[in-house]
Amino acid sequence: MPTERYAHIIGWGMALPERVLTNDDLARMVDTTDEWIASRTGIRERRVAGPKETTGSMAIEAAQAALDNADIEPEDIDLIIVATSTPENIFPSTACLIQDALGAVNAGGFDLSAACSGFVYALSTGANAVLSGAAKTVLVVGAETMSRVVNWKDRGTCILFGDGAGAFILQGSETPGGVLSSILRADGSGGSSLEIPAGGSRLPASIDTVRDNLHSIRMDGKEVYRFATRVMASVTQEVVQTAGLQLSDIALIVPHQANKRIIESAARSLGLPEEKFFMNLDRYGNTSAASIPIAVCEAVGQGRIRPNDNIVVVGFGGGLTWGATVIKWDVTEKPEFSRWHYLGRRTRYVLAGLRSIARRGLRRVESLLPASRAAAEGGEEPPYRKQN
Ligand code: COA
Repeated sequence: MPTERYAHIIGWGMALPERVLTNDDLARMVDTTDEWIASRTGIRERRVAGPKETTGSMAIEAAQAALDNADIEPEDIDLIIVATSTPENIFPSTACLIQDALGAVNAGGFDLSAACSGFVYALSTGANAVLSGAAKTVLVVGAETMSRVVNWKDRGTCILFGDGAGAFILQGSETPGGVLSSILRADGSGGSSLEIPAGGSRLPASIDTVRDNLHSIRMDGKEVYRFATRVMASVTQEVVQTAGLQLSDIALIVPHQANKRIIESAARSLGLPEEKFFMNLDRYGNTSAASIPIAVCEAVGQGRIRPNDNIVVVGFGGGLTWGATVIKWDVTEKPEFSRWHYLGRRTRYVLAGLRSIARRGLRRVESLLPASRAAAEGGEEPPYRKQN
């Protein structure tokens, strides 16, 4: 397989639930005020998934928007990476759900868990897959339904989070640009400062874990705040240097949208004006792994990121994890929007749904055939039956 020298972002898309939850709405649920939340975090409202919306449904919508934007077909995707802390299931992965819904029949896929740094981790991993020649085209998604893991009685955390999804398509190219450098870091000693204590193998779900609210986010806000302000500036500086650039070469920094004060503090440490930082957290809150791709989509839409701009995306969160990537934005030609290709892809998604139903049916039929039953049982009585 030929190895491409550059990994470009050739498409991007986002999806948000329709339901808006304002600070005033929250003030009717817990002991807080719009003034307190806005002044401590910058957040004014967030989106919350409706009963039929899930991490998977939003991820699929964002991925479809990214495919339209790139004007490529689902069959072109070689790898799907989904950064999420709120997957549909522990397994199968949300990536497999997306693969099936898109009809991405040539793709492998996996979920990646790095909390709010997840998208930076996934972008870096996807770019490395392209640069190594393992994949030509990679779908990278950040998707979260934080509203399902928030304790709605804890005013210290429930005010912060929101739901949404964003997706990028990465593709190999010989044209210089794209993902220029990445830095990924972790410090597991700080894991307990931001966690969902139960639901894994250490504390599986039980009546006690549900009663004690251990399936929702626990956070030491001050500790996380200190960590975030420390790492955001340092990793930004480091990743820019690694790309062989100076801070003055960077057109825009798109940080994880956790807290306005954290971003302002990083701006001060880096000696940069606040205008260099894109923020939309006032409308969406902290959507964890989805916050960076959503912010990039909006920044492009508002003309804040233009072709040939160098940008930095920088994330931090549970783990503790943090990371940053320098991107030279979209140096490849954008195809004209083709209505026929758009409609063709919509037809493909319907066919992918039918294909999925057919494959499930076929599996059921196969399992009933005598030959396949004998093969499954190794041609002889299974050991548990022999014992009886
Ligand atoms: N409304 C009103 N009062 C609140 C409140 C709320 N939603 N949440 C906490 N308070 C109260 C506290 O009970 C405390 O009251 P007390 O002084 O009577 O004890 C007071 O406000 C100060 O609480 P504190 O936790 O010290 O506030 P803070 O200034 O540290 O702000 C955060 C809290 C959560 C906004 C802040 O710590 C933060 O943003 N941390 C980073 C969190 C984050 O971004 N996490 C995700 C990272 S990916």
